[in-house]
Amino acid sequence: MNRNAQVCLVVLLAGCSLGKIDSRPAISSSDEKPVAAEPTPQEVFEKRILPIFKSPDPSSCVECHLAGVDLKNYILPSHEQTFVSLRDQGLIDLERPENSKILALIQMGEGDKSGAALIHQKTREAEYDAFADWVKRSAGDPRLRDLPKLDRAELAGPKRPAEVIRHARQDRLVAAFTNTIWSMRFRCMGCHTEGKAENKKLVAKHGERVAWFKAEGPEATLAYLRSSNLIDVDQPEMSLLLRKPLNDVKHGGGIKILPGDEGYKLIRGFLDDYARIVKDQYNDAASVPTAGTNQSRFGSDMWLKLADTPDAWGDKLLQVRVYAWDAGKSSWETEPIATSDRAVWGKGRLWQHNLTLLAASDSQRAMAWARAAQPSLPRGRYLLKVHVDQSGRLAKDWTATLGEDDYAGMAEIESSWPEGYGKMTTVDAAKVRK
Ligand code: HEC
Ligand code: HEC
Repeated sequence: MNRNAQVCLVVLLAGCSLGKIDSRPAISSSDEKPVAAEPTPQEVFEKRILPIFKSPDPSSCVECHLAGVDLKNYILPSHEQTFVSLRDQGLIDLERPENSKILALIQMGEGDKSGAALIHQKTREAEYDAFADWVKRSAGDPRLRDLPKLDRAELAGPKRPAEVIRHARQDRLVAAFTNTIWSMRFRCMGCHTEGKAENKKLVAKHGERVAWFKAEGPEATLAYLRSSNLIDVDQPEMSLLLRKPLNDVKHGGGIKILPGDEGYKLIRGFLDDYARIVKDQYNDAASVPTAGTNQSRFGSDMWLKLADTPDAWGDKLLQVRVYAWDAGKSSWETEPIATSDRAVWGKGRLWQHNLTLLAASDSQRAMAWARAAQPSLPRGRYLLKVHVDQSGRLAKDWTATLGEDDYAGMAEIESSWPEGYGKMTTVDAAKVRK
C-alpha cells in the first residue's frame, strides 16, 4: 500500500478527498472531464507546419517571388531544428514572437487588394496562423529557447542568393517586360493594341487573341501572355511571340522583325530570361543578366524616314542612332537619345521607322518620360548616325551589335518630331556621309 493510500485510508473516515491530498498532476480518469490540454510546439508543428512543408502546392510567396525562395525553404523535418534554424537567423523574436520576421515575410502581400493577392489570400492566412501559433508556443518554451545553435550548414533558408531572389521577383519581371516587349509595341503598330482602330478591325476577323497588348498596360499584358500559348518556356526561341513577327510562322502582319534587330533582341532577351526565371535556372549571382538593365526604353510614334537610299543599302538591316545637342556643353551628347532599325526597302529606295527613346534608368530624363502619357523629343538639332549590316552579321548572331565595320555615315538634322505615320521627319539619304 503506498503512502497516499495509507493517508487516505486514515483520513477517509474524516471525509478526505484524494485530490486535495494528492500533489501529483491531475490525471483525468474516465469519470472526470479532461483538462483542455494546450498543444505542445511539436504538436502544432506536426499538425500545421509540416503539411505546408509537404504540400505540392506553392506557398503564398509565389504571388511575388517566381523562383528563388519559398516558405518551405525555411522548414526542416523536426520542430526543434526548424525553430533553432529560424532563431539563429534572427527570424524569430523570442521576446515578442508576434514581431518575428518570419511572420513579416508571410505578411508581405497583406493589404494588397489586387486580383493576384486575393488568389493567395487564403493560403497566406493559413500560413500566418500556423506560424504565429507555433512561433508563440516555441518561444515560450524555455527548453527550446535554450537549445544549442545549429551549424551554419544546417540552417534552412532560400536556396538562392539575394541577387537571384531579387531578379526573380514579379515586380522586377514587370519592369523588364515594360522595358523590352512593351517598349516596342509601336513596332506592331495598332494591330495588336487593344482598343485601337486597326485592332478592332482585326479582332472582328481573327478574334480576341489579336488584342494581346492590353489597354490596361504592361502588367496586364504580361499576365495575359504568361497565360497564353504564345510563350514556350521549354524552347523560348520557338515562342509564337517571336516566330510570328519574324514570319517564321505565317503572320497576318507579315515580317515585322529580323533576326538580331532591336525588336528581335528585346523579345528574345525577355523570353530567354523569363524562361530561366520560371524554371529556376539562375543559381548564383553571377548568372543573373545585367546587360541593358541600366537603360530605359520608351516606344514612340515619332517616325524617321531616309529617302532615296543608295542601292548598296537595299534590303539590308539599317540602324539609326539619334544624338541630341547638348547646348550646355556645346557638343553632341555621348549616348543616343533614340534608336530605330529596320530593313531598307530596296525597290522603293527608302527606309522608315518609328523611334524608341533611350535614357539612363536613374536619370531625370527617364523619370520624366516614365511619367509622361506619351514621351516625346523636343524640337532641336540632332545627329543621326547610320549603320548598315552589310554582312548579315546580326542574322548569324542575334546578340551581335553593329559597329565600325558597318558604319555608313552621319547627318545633322533639325526636327520637332511630330507624331504619326503621316508626319515623318524626312531626311535625304544623300546627306548621310562619313
Ligand atoms: C506582395 C509581394 C510579396 C510577397 C507575397 C512576398 N514577398 Fe518577399 N519580397 C517582396 C519584395 C518587394 C521584396 C524586396 C523588399 C525590399 O527590398 O525591401 C522581398 C524580399 C524578400 C526577401 C529578401 C530578403 C529580405 O528580407 O528582404 C526574402 C528572403 C523574401 N522576400 C522572402 C519571402 C517569403 C518567404 C515569402 C512568403 C512567405 C515572401 N517573401 C512573400 C515581395 C513579396
Ligand atoms: C498590320 C498588322 C499587324 C502588325 C503590324 C503586326 N501584326 Fe501580329 N498579327 C496580325 C494578324 C492579322 C494576326 C492574326 C493572324 C495570325 O495569327 O497570323 C497576328 C497574329 C500575331 C500573333 C499571334 C497571336 C495569337 O494569339 O494567335 C503574334 C504573337 C503576333 N501577331 C505578334 C506580332 C508582333 C510581336 C508584332 C510587332 C513586332 C506584330 N505582330 C505586328 C497583324 C499584325
